[in-house]
Amino acid sequence: MEKIIVQGGKQLKGTITVSGAKNAVLPVIVASLLSDGACRIQDVPRLTDVETICDVLGEVGAKIKIIDAHTLDINCNKINKFEASYEYVSKMRASNLVMGPLLARLGKAKISMPGGCAIGTRPIDLHLKGFEAMGARIKLEHGYIIAEAPRLTGARIYLDYPSVGATENIIMTGSLAHGVTVIENAAEEPEIVDLANFINSMGGRIKGAGTKIVKIEGVKNLGSTTHTIIPDRIEAGSFMVAAAITGGELMLENVIADHLKPVIAKLIEIGVEIEEVGNGLYIRASNPLKAVDIKTLPYPGFPTDMQAQFMSLLTVVQGTSVLTETVFENRFMHAEELRRMGADIKIEGRSAVVEGMNRLTGALVRASDLRAGAALIIAGLAAEGVTEIGNIYHIDRGYDRIVDKFRSVGANISRS
Ligand code: EPZ
Repeated sequence: MEKIIVQGGKQLKGTITVSGAKNAVLPVIVASLLSDGACRIQDVPRLTDVETICDVLGEVGAKIKIIDAHTLDINCNKINKFEASYEYVSKMRASNLVMGPLLARLGKAKISMPGGCAIGTRPIDLHLKGFEAMGARIKLEHGYIIAEAPRLTGARIYLDYPSVGATENIIMTGSLAHGVTVIENAAEEPEIVDLANFINSMGGRIKGAGTKIVKIEGVKNLGSTTHTIIPDRIEAGSFMVAAAITGGELMLENVIADHLKPVIAKLIEIGVEIEEVGNGLYIRASNPLKAVDIKTLPYPGFPTDMQAQFMSLLTVVQGTSVLTETVFENRFMHAEELRRMGADIKIEGRSAVVEGMNRLTGALVRASDLRAGAALIIAGLAAEGVTEIGNIYHIDRGYDRIVDKFRSVGANISRS
């Protein structure tokens, strides 16, 4: 199995261009199912998750043309199947996002139950609650969820939890429903704003995306558009933490600083210098860094997708840090791997207590999910000796050419 090998000790120095956001491009590609026109999507990151979601769309009849490494043309005017098979949904939970658009276009959707994953059970009850509120009948059989709705009507839906996926699925379904749908306690992530902008550019009528109340006025059909994906705030944050842990300095291009407020605030609290420069960020870590406490929350709170990367950083700064994970119930798998590198971490329920120490040492470790994988690369960059990271298919799901990008700023890193 392929591994990533990191020889620690090099300070990162240079410029990295951040790719388009994984968690924006996936719902945007899915939302092209709503259109009977031609959609061109630009700044698409090269990820295995993008390949998977394109396979799912192909399965239902979408025509997808790769224009270049970062541009896709998608035409869904002839989608003819309403089923997303176990093969794809089990590979990637975000496949369940096709449910809403299939329901809206074909009146029926059949999706394999999404398995749990390393970071938690991740049910889709809130998605289904939204579909039922709009008139769909739901049944579960043979491991599949089957939703049918001869007619979808707008509804007022309160989300018990501001689920990103549920908000996205309901926005997409409501876009072609009869009447107005209002989502209350909606998720506010920037990727949801990008999705709404994409649908509105096809003729949709969505207001309030990025706030707790989203209003969707259904339209009869959606047309063609060209859309550029927003930059990946989590990829950017991962590189910022890597600069911090190596005591280096990086210029990140293609960044929307506004999407990174909690991450920037935390890094400044730790002692990192950060400056906004045009549509980029300059990061320098030349001062001694100190321990901080972190609590993950739905946006605009501190992102759960940055928790693992910060844990790596906090293992080597002086002092005791407490990281509390409130979004997923099992997102500390990377702690065990960091311990193999010498980290002092104690898990107490939803919190991890990290005793900062001087140095990590390189070891054989394995990625349990894509952000844990990034965290292990980050730890390896600062560790004494060589770190070998296995299960790197997790990393390739969500990071576009991460080894090349790190190597371009001086890291001693390779794939083998
Ligand atoms: C999205 O996942 C992201 N994935 C995740 O990023 C991210 O961690 C997460 O949002 C939170 O920000 C994509 O956008 C493709 P949720 P999603 O629905 O939509 C519970 C990464 O590393 N919940 O907001 O699955 C759920 O169990 C990935 O890039 C229900 O209980 O997240 C979880 O505890 C990891 N019922 C919490 O809500 C539901 O119906 C957050 O889930 C739906 C969710």
